[in-house]
Amino acid sequence: MKIGVFDSGIGGLTVVKSLLEHQLFEEIIYFGDTARVPYGPKDKNTIIRYGIEAVEFFKNFELDMIIVACNSVSAYALEEMQESASCPVIGVIEPGVLATSNAVDSHSNVLVIGTKATVNSKAYENALKVLKFTNVKSKATPLFVPLVEEELFNGTILNATLRHYFENEESPDAVILGCTHFPLISDAISKYFGPNTKLIHSGDAIVEYLEKRFDFKEKYPNPKLEFFASENPEALKKIAKRWLSAK
Ligand code: DGL
Repeated sequence: MKIGVFDSGIGGLTVVKSLLEHQLFEEIIYFGDTARVPYGPKDKNTIIRYGIEAVEFFKNFELDMIIVACNSVSAYALEEMQESASCPVIGVIEPGVLATSNAVDSHSNVLVIGTKATVNSKAYENALKVLKFTNVKSKATPLFVPLVEEELFNGTILNATLRHYFENEESPDAVILGCTHFPLISDAISKYFGPNTKLIHSGDAIVEYLEKRFDFKEKYPNPKLEFFASENPEALKKIAKRWLSAK
């Protein structure tokens, strides 16, 4: 299978990393809209327009599937992207919600963290409600995005930001890392909330979701990878090299 992975910028590399670890695809074409990132503070119509433009971009490559790594786009633009694409378009919300329901029961305290767009959309909350989850809270934590982009994966600034957002939060049973960037600070988030809080990672969730729905017959340990960006593709390629090879 030849797939496209779309993100607003570099964060979607965390999803690519999970896909590579599980060797699911023969060819992955990544497109990061680095010229217009961040999407998180933008409104729904803008995000829908950008999502449809990404589908148009991917029409240059005869893809078997598009994976929307970006939570903000998955939350606001998935249907519109599905309507304009000629292949399946899969977002991260449904996989994340199913992974949550596999990890904890429906009475558990679940905290969703993400960009303002993702949190305002209530996409996770509504999907969890359908599965009868009763104690779901969400919180926009956009400051983590630039910290991750600066590769501040630990240390005083990150710890102060964790305190800023979570000082009054009791440790939840599960935290949905509802933003592409957050898996890179999952160790710090886990340390902050303690060992009883389960973290839900979109990349792992989407792998689990795909493996249940598609019959993957072969493994591809050396897939063909191509990176495209709407601005400065060289910078994206450099980060991809670093992030995808890190443990
Ligand atoms: N990729 C975005 C997300 O997962 C985070 C960065 C942005 O705001 O564009 O929601």
